Amino acid sequence: MGIDQGVWAVSLSIWRQLYAMVWLVFLQIVIILESKIPVFGPYLVYGHVFLGLVILGLAHFNNAQIKKTEAPSRLKRIAKSTATLASIQVIFGVILLANIMMPTSGILASVVEFVRLLHIMTALAIITQASSVATAYDMWEEKEYIKT
Ligand code: HEM
Repeated sequence: MGIDQGVWAVSLSIWRQLYAMVWLVFLQIVIILESKIPVFGPYLVYGHVFLGLVILGLAHFNNAQIKKTEAPSRLKRIAKSTATLASIQVIFGVILLANIMMPTSGILASVVEFVRLLHIMTALAIITQASSVATAYDMWEEKEYIKT
């Protein structure tokens, strides 16, 4: 395989990874919304934690991959901030997980409620940003912005 083919193969997979990010975050939100179901609900929380770490890795991988392309810098900036948000999301997630294992009360419980709100807001921000990068990158790669 020549160098040109190699670069093409890498860039071909980027749009897939970007769309994968959107749908994994979608699944991530759906999974946790079902976690109150009796008996297997708690397993969904563990699934959510695992998927959260996969999403974190993918967000940073996408950021690193898109950086290597000639894509518009606006897309690179959004991919970078999405990776940063994914890292922050893990911190909020760990606090929520600790609260499930050792439930808090009083003022600490209010702090955890605030963290939950931040976790939800960050989830929505991640899926919004990931969707915009995926579509815009795909269109850029397919040269759909160029009028013929
Ligand atoms: C991009 C990744 C993630 C997204 C999009 C996401 C999204 C969400 C959403 C929407 C909720 C529902 C909050 C509620 O209604 O109470 C939630 C809850 C939760 N998340 Fe995440 N999350 C992510 C990563 C993580 C990670 C990495 C962890 C753990 C390290 C984690 C731990 C939790 C826990 C424990 C809850 C349940 C809180 C509870 O029911 O008390 N999340 N997450």
